This record gives sequence, C-alpha cells and structure tokens, in this order.
Amino acid sequence: MLHIKNGVLVSGSATQKADLWIEGGKIVETPADASGAELIDAAGCLVFPGFIDAHTHMQMDAGATWTADDFASGTAAALAGGTTVILDFATQARGRSLNEALDLWHSRADGHCSCGYGFHMAVTDWNGRTRLELRDMANRGVTSFKAYMAYDNLRISDDALRELLREAAALGGLVGAHCELGDTVNKNRAELVAAGKTAPKYHALSRPDKVEADAVARFLELAGEADAPAWVVHLSTREGLHNIETARARGQRVLTETCPQYLTLTDKVYGADGFEGAKYVCSPPIRNAHDRLALLDATRKGKVDIISTDHCSFNYKGQKEMGLGDFTKIPNGLPGVEHRPALIWTYATQSPERFCALLSENPAKAFGMYPRKGTLSSGADADVVIWDGGETWTIRAAEQVQNVDYSPWEGFQVRGRAKVVLLGGELCAAEGNVLKAGQGKYVARERAWANL
Ligand code: URP
Ligand code: ZN
Ligand code: ZN
Repeated sequence: MLHIKNGVLVSGSATQKADLWIEGGKIVETPADASGAELIDAAGCLVFPGFIDAHTHMQMDAGATWTADDFASGTAAALAGGTTVILDFATQARGRSLNEALDLWHSRADGHCSCGYGFHMAVTDWNGRTRLELRDMANRGVTSFKAYMAYDNLRISDDALRELLREAAALGGLVGAHCELGDTVNKNRAELVAAGKTAPKYHALSRPDKVEADAVARFLELAGEADAPAWVVHLSTREGLHNIETARARGQRVLTETCPQYLTLTDKVYGADGFEGAKYVCSPPIRNAHDRLALLDATRKGKVDIISTDHCSFNYKGQKEMGLGDFTKIPNGLPGVEHRPALIWTYATQSPERFCALLSENPAKAFGMYPRKGTLSSGADADVVIWDGGETWTIRAAEQVQNVDYSPWEGFQVRGRAKVVLLGGELCAAEGNVLKAGQGKYVARERAWANL
C-alpha cells in the first residue's frame, strides 16, 4: 500500500488538502489499518490525476520519412513530463480496412509504451465496409475518429464526413476533423512555389486563418446536419473559435482542442527568408499574436475543453531539411508531448482546477476513460502526478527525453515539474526522468463524449 501525505489533491472543480491511498494499482478509500504503508511526502506539491494527451502521432509514416519519435521514445517523453496516457492516431490506408490499421498500430505500440495508450482511428476511405467496421472499432476500445479536410492522401469528401459523423454518433462515438480547406491550401501552395516563394515562412502564408475558419464552419455545419457532436482538433485561430461559439449558440455540442504551440508562440518564429522556421512548420501553422491571445482568453474562460500536443516530431537535421528550397517538402509537425504540462502551467492556466480539467479530467470524460482515468476518486487507476508548481527550469533539447534534435521552446523558462509520476500505482518517473520504462498498457475506451 502507498500513502501520499501532505499534498493538495486537485480535480477539475476543487482542491483539497487530503491524503491519498493506493493499493493494487488503484486509488482506494482510507484503510482501517495503514500499518506498513509506504509513504510519499507531497508537502508543498499539488497532486493531480495523470495527464492525458489526446492527440499524438508516434511512429508515423509521413510519406517521405517517419516521425522521429516511435512509441518507445514518445511515451517515455510523455511520462517524464507527467503524461500517463496518450491517444494516438491510427490511420486507415486507402483500400484497406480499419481493423487492419488498428492491428498495425497495436503491433507498433504493444509492449513498447512507457505510459498508457489508446487510439483514435483516422478514416481516409469511407465505404460500406468502413461503415460496418465502426462498430468493430468501438468493440476494440476505439470510440473516436478523425477525418482530414486537407492533405490529398488523407482527406474525405464532405458527404463522407457527414455520414461518418452520423454513423459514429449512433454508436456513441465522436468525430474530430482536421479543419483546413484542402483545395485552397493546394492552390496557395502551387502559386507560391511557382512564384519562387519557397522559404518556410510561406508555409504559414499558404494556410491563412480563413482556411481554418471556413473549414471549422463547414465541419460544424455537417455535424449539425448529422445531429452529431463534433471535435475540432488543434484549433489555431480566433475566427475558428468564433465559428465554434456560433455553433454552440445554436445548440451544437463541440469539443474544442488547442495545443501549446498556438498558446505560446507567434508567427514571428517563421522569420524572414532563412530555413530555421522549418522547425515550426506544422498544420495549421503558428498564428499571429491576436489569435494567440484570443485562444489564451478562451482557454481561461472555459471555451477550450482540452489541450493536446499534436506531437509529431521530425529532426531538424535531415528531416525538416528535406524542405530546403521548397517549403512544401518540409514534414509537418512539432514535438511537444514532454513539455505540455510545464508550458500550460506557466503560460496558459490560472488555477490548478482549470489545469486539471484541461489536461486530465476533460480528455478522460470526452474520450470515454472517466472515472477510470482523469480523477483521484477511489476506484480510479492510480496514475498520479505529484506536481511542484513552483520549480523553475529551462527547456533544453539537449536534456529532453523525446528523440528529436530540437525543441520549439528551446531556452523557455518554465515553472512546474512532475516530481513524481505513478503509473498504476508504480513509481515510473521523477524529476523529468523515466525510472521504469515499458510499463504502459493499452487503454480500451468506452463511448466517447458520454460525460463532458
Ligand atoms: O502538422 C501537423 N499537425 N502534423 C500532424 C498531422 C496533423 O495534421 O494533425
Ligand atoms: Zn491534424
Ligand atoms: Zn495531429
């Protein structure tokens, strides 16, 4: 038995100075006989349910290259920062089944993960068989789906998206969309390259705010027609947020996700004509200060529900450099899984409760894991973070666990550190280091969206 003493326990709505008891990998009520319990002193610290990152891409084939982090390194990095569950995107290959995709992602992840892991399923080929397989996915613990509105090799038509929304909702599932208008992006990219505008900064110019905002509006229109809840993934713009608020005002249920890069960085990172900006090439791109401030404000006011990373790492050397001379060849994505808790604690939240809601309780509820995850109530899995909210430190790629040669936040001073991370009641990480690797289990999920 484990006894965490002197800490302040946090939920999405309250804090309370209380002891926490753990036995058999679960949180338990105060025992009648506590003799022999192992003690952890959490004095001066907050105690959170393990953080959940609901949007990662580990060990992903990006066409010309693979992500720098595989499931082993990516989940070790997650755990080091206090994240005890990731939800990664399995992706259907066109012409193949959802079951085959899920088998493939399991073969990549099973036995290699240092934190808990589950999968969303990205649907890229909507047909009769795919429709029937949605139920198989739910039976295998995958109750959320993603559709792409951009990327020619991944996107599905509006009609297919509407059907997917309707069919998934009938199963209690949730569909998220990558909201960018693919045709507009394709046209912009072709025009820029033809005009010799090939530096990384043109990546951002090829995907202006309106490309996202119009896609958000369209996605929510389709969700409305399907009478389905909708998840807007990696929201980056003020205008997109406005369109979400409009849909909510007409009674639609919208789960809104943003990411640390949109809350902490601005498009100044793309620089002038140099290539360093390639480190920040992701889609949607990093936006201007007005967008950043609008998203921060929305996060603080509870209009943003979850903060995930969209962790999709590529080395600068050799991988991002594939786009030297042509920004369209820069692999899209940033690392973030390790540093999200410290970045959000430092820059984006004003209370432990809100932090807990955004990083743990809300994703657990939205994605069918609550109350097994996302809470310190008795009966929950003992995934626990003892958080020193006052520790100040500096993000350095040279010191990170994630297997990538840079950090978008290099040199950023942050506050807050996961002093102790328990996974299923076992001490697995401390002070930014993994102590016990490979302990992560698959998290089969119930119906998504049931509780939020
Ligand atoms: O640039 C990004 N975000 N790459 C990952 C794939 C996606 O669109 O989420
Ligand atoms: Zn996306
Ligand atoms: Zn993504």
